[in-house]
Amino acid sequence: MPSSSIEFLLNDELITLNDLDTNTTVLEYLRNYKNLKGTKEGCASGDCGACTAVLAEVKDNKLKYKSINTCITLLYTLHSKQLLTVEHIESKYLHPVQQSMVDNDGAQCGFCTPGFVMSMYAMHKNKIKPTNENINKYLSGNLCRCTGYRPIKDALKNLKKYKNLNTDSSEILKKLKKINLNDVILNKNNSKFFIHKNLQTFKKDFIKSKNPSLLVGGTDLSLEITKRRKNLDEIFYLGQNKDLNFIKVKKNNLHIGAATPINDILSILKKYYSEFYEMFERYGSEQIRNVASLGGNIGSASPIGDSLPVLISLDTKLILDGNKSRKMSISDYFISYRKTKLRKKEFIKEIIIPLKSKHNILKCYKISKRIDDDISSVFMAINTEIKNKKFKSIKIVCGGMAAIPKIAKKTENFLKNKKINLDNISKAKKIISKEFSPLSDVRSSKTYRTKIVSNLLDRFWNEYNNKRVTLYDY
Ligand SMILES: Cc1cc2nc3c(=O)[nH]c(=O)nc-3n(C[C@H](O)[C@H](O)[C@H](O)COP(=O)(O)OP(=O)(O)OC[C@H]3O[C@@H](n4cnc5c(N)ncnc54)[C@H](O)[C@@H]3O)c2cc1C
Ligand code: FES
Ligand code: FES
Repeated sequence: MPSSSIEFLLNDELITLNDLDTNTTVLEYLRNYKNLKGTKEGCASGDCGACTAVLAEVKDNKLKYKSINTCITLLYTLHSKQLLTVEHIESKYLHPVQQSMVDNDGAQCGFCTPGFVMSMYAMHKNKIKPTNENINKYLSGNLCRCTGYRPIKDALKNLKKYKNLNTDSSEILKKLKKINLNDVILNKNNSKFFIHKNLQTFKKDFIKSKNPSLLVGGTDLSLEITKRRKNLDEIFYLGQNKDLNFIKVKKNNLHIGAATPINDILSILKKYYSEFYEMFERYGSEQIRNVASLGGNIGSASPIGDSLPVLISLDTKLILDGNKSRKMSISDYFISYRKTKLRKKEFIKEIIIPLKSKHNILKCYKISKRIDDDISSVFMAINTEIKNKKFKSIKIVCGGMAAIPKIAKKTENFLKNKKINLDNISKAKKIISKEFSPLSDVRSSKTYRTKIVSNLLDRFWNEYNNKRVTLYDY
């Protein structure tokens, strides 16, 4: 029998909940229902980090800590987890991250500081070394709008001076493991929220549903609630469905469950596609990567979804499921602006990426206004095999240049079997600059986008010749 409420720990308190609206965010719950006002609201869209809190989840019999944006996390996704807020982390003394913020003048305005503290806390709990690289990564989702980051970074670098106050977590682990992991079906004011632990029960309820919304990280979907003021009737949360959360290598393919969080696929991705892995370092922020999924990126079908050009260039296949299961090449999936071949009562189950041969060169070029936490103006993925200094095969796929992620077919046809030299690259640049007719919008103009795609071929040529290219060169 499914349960009709969720259970989770709010700091140390065990909460059983079923009486709030299914569209409630964690931030609303903390501030309006629990009077925990240390967690702030800035943008309500996952961009600023003022609302950061930390989740503890049981993984391999241990607790794993994740910073999250509470403004776009729906409350009922907390089932079986611990939510840690800024009010909780100090006890008799300030927590080391707080004390270090004070001692290094990192505590600035009261608005961004709690969010910074919670991102630092997640880093501290996961025992991440405060190298420059790790600090930039862990703080990528926290914005200070007025002063600066140096004292905050100093606070992290100087953390080792303080006594480690990481308390024993075995009691929390025990409490979380006691929570019943049955399916959950909540019904509040005719809106429903479903949590399934496997595919079988999920499919039964999903096929019967009238107006379902699939939810994983909610980093796109929740904005329908917080920005467009929509009410979602039937939410199916896939984040706890074990049949949709996995990554494995089978034969010559990488198989990824559609609801697997991006941060959980990175270590395997690094091994097989280091360039794709590096692209994810610039995908949203740590808070976003902790919960967002590839299935959600494909499901959103945005022309500027970063993974899409790369997946198309790698000849990825999708397993779609529902009444019947079917396999489709991702290059056939997108029809027009945010329209796809996904049928009603169908969902993406699995993403299958062929393993790259050692002769293939993969490039993932993301062009955006900011390095971190920004959406692309233009994206280009190039997957090519070069043999005897000729393009034996080549795929060039662009994001931000059309209503869907699009293959540069004419440029590919021109380059295939041609010698790789400056003359052919120059000719290809001319072809690609006429191949698309992009829009001008808030991110960039049509002229800029057109210039960028052709310049990216120069970048490819320079990198092929081992010239050092920095992020700022193009
Ligand atoms: C601050 C911020 C920064 C971001 N930065 C980036 C970025 O750098 N690059 C980028 O590409 N995107 C970015 N995004 C967009 C978003 O994070 C990604 O698209 C992400 O991968 C969505 O995954 P999710 O699990 O959160 O999807 P959700 O929001 O849960 O779902 C997104 C959509 O997909 C559907 N869906 C989910 N799972 C399935 C499934 N299995 N089958 C069918 N449909 C499904 C949902 O119903 C919904 O319509 C950003 C978003 C925010 C808020
Ligand atoms: S309020 Fe800005 S990220 Fe949540
Ligand atoms: S110190 Fe808080 S926004 Fe700058």
